[in-house]
Amino acid sequence: MDTIATLRGKYLEQISAAPDADALETVRLAALGKKGEISLKMRELGQMSAEERQSAGPALNALKTEVDAALKARKSALEDAALDARLKSEWLDVTLPGRPRPMGTIHPISQVMDELTAIFADMGFSVAEGPQIESDWYNFDALNIAPEHPARQEHDTFFMHRADGDNRPPHVLRTHTSPVQIRAMQDQGAPIRVIAPGRVYRMDMDQTHTPMFHQVEGLAIDRDISMAQLKWTLEEFCRAFFEVDEVELRFRASHFPFTEPSAEVDIRCSWEGGQLKIGEGKDWLEILGSGMVHPKVLQAGGIDPNEWQGFAFGLGIDRIAMLKYGIPDLRAFFESDLRWLRHYGFASLDQPSLAAGLSR
Ligand code: PHE
Repeated sequence: MDTIATLRGKYLEQISAAPDADALETVRLAALGKKGEISLKMRELGQMSAEERQSAGPALNALKTEVDAALKARKSALEDAALDARLKSEWLDVTLPGRPRPMGTIHPISQVMDELTAIFADMGFSVAEGPQIESDWYNFDALNIAPEHPARQEHDTFFMHRADGDNRPPHVLRTHTSPVQIRAMQDQGAPIRVIAPGRVYRMDMDQTHTPMFHQVEGLAIDRDISMAQLKWTLEEFCRAFFEVDEVELRFRASHFPFTEPSAEVDIRCSWEGGQLKIGEGKDWLEILGSGMVHPKVLQAGGIDPNEWQGFAFGLGIDRIAMLKYGIPDLRAFFESDLRWLRHYGFASLDQPSLAAGLSR
């Protein structure tokens, strides 16, 4: 049949000439689509006589199969060519050196907070938190510092503003971490063992004072806690924190409204050749305030002082960070000088843990 040969020649030629997938699809529709030339020819078979059909049927079927195969072959050849072109244009030189990314450092204060949290966690203390803007009651009254108490003046407090006509006592920027004692007692009751590291504020600014600094509060309440456990806990802490085998602490009688008796604690050290050594020498350095929690403070925290007793301490974090890492000036902590941060900061993977070098 002449037409079959013509159709075959025409479509095979168009298929091999199709430049891309779209063109190829157009050829496919023209030949084998619903209204395609070959499809229509096959539909005509129905009107043919039996003899005509006998020769035309197989010839048309063969044509359809051949065109179909040619379409598929051309399609995969076009896809291969497209992939080759992409591979040629989208190459990447994996031997090029990477772009350097500046690495930040962990601030010594954060590092020291992590260190002391790990040490106290090992002794069974969990971390408690409280707000930095604190009510007058939590910061003072609940800690047995009545409104007329002279300690209020000593605290150099920052007061928040109240709206005009609001005569309630203004909130304060907490002057110590001790209000967290009250909050923790209210939340958890007794027995309790918590530390509360955080920021505190006092209106004070010179070489050794900044208006914002850091303390960690400690609180342990149980039925039979005494000053002896306070002393042991602080000694254990100092040994682990300063990574020395022996430390010597000196308890000096002192006064805080929220503890009775109260003691300020000094650590034995030497300053030979401008180099500080903890645990030896003739000098003493004050590092914290402490004492047995005052019954009125237990009461304010909702704990019965006839049943429970305990110790509390408050330690200056900035101070012990300076001591441990030989940082001479407190104010530099808060100046955000990149050179200082790179020098004194810690690698982010330098995670403190008792297993990773904090000796006990
Ligand atoms: N809050 C005291 C201060 O800031 C420290 C302290 C805490 C003393 C707990 C005794 C008990 O100076």
